[in-house]
Amino acid sequence: MKSYNSLPLVFLFFSFFLFHYSAASSSDVLYRACKDAADGDPNIHYNFCVSCLEENPKSHNASLKGLFKISIGLAKSNATSIKSLVSKLLTNNSLSKHAKSSLKTCSEVYSEAISDLKDAIAAFKLKDYSTTNIRISAAMDASDTCEEGFKEEGDVSPLKKEDNEFFELTAIALAFLSMFRS
Ligand SMILES: *[C@@H]1O[C@H](CO)[C@@H](O)[C@H](O)[C@H]1NC(C)=O
Ligand SMILES: *[C@@H]1O[C@H](CO)[C@@H](O)[C@H](O)[C@H]1NC(C)=O
Ligand SMILES: *[C@@H]1O[C@H](CO)[C@@H](O)[C@H](O)[C@H]1NC(C)=O
Repeated sequence: MKSYNSLPLVFLFFSFFLFHYSAASSSDVLYRACKDAADGDPNIHYNFCVSCLEENPKSHNASLKGLFKISIGLAKSNATSIKSLVSKLLTNNSLSKHAKSSLKTCSEVYSEAISDLKDAIAAFKLKDYSTTNIRISAAMDASDTCEEGFKEEGDVSPLKKEDNEFFELTAIALAFLSMFRS
């Protein structure tokens, strides 16, 4: 009886082992790509890269090109979400005139960023990686342009965290792009 009882345990042990082994190997591209991206660009943080991509379960089984597609999708949906946050901030009636005008600039530049990222995705599908690069770089500028508006007026930016994260997401997309182009 005793030996029969230990069988499921042995089985459990081995499936646990197998599960971990296969999980680790299918995730290799994700971890490796984030590590290379972080090593190659001081603006990219390894943990941010991994945790953003892991939000999409497909990342665990994706090729470098697959990871690129996921990263550019993340950047695009983040721009959309920042834009709606800006609309919400603009409903505040106590805003100064200059704060309001800076927020409006952010709204415009993030709209442009969304359309740049759409163009980048279209160019990627056509394997036109140079246009893909140009469009992502253009989208990336949204964060700086948005921040500058507040700085020029001496206002504290209410979007500092959002601008930084969007910048980093586009930097990750650019890093992945350059990896499979080289
Ligand atoms: C992971 O990738 C392999 C080979 O590319 C594929 O056969 C498998 O269906 C994928 N699994 C998941 C969960 O997507
Ligand atoms: C994306 O945008 C929202 C703004 O709504 C922000 O709070 C969030 O932290 C951003 N970053 C990521 C990586 O999703
Ligand atoms: C509205 O704007 C004022 C002035 O900038 C700020 O002090 C206040 O916290 C804002 N209110 C909300 C709900 O964001």
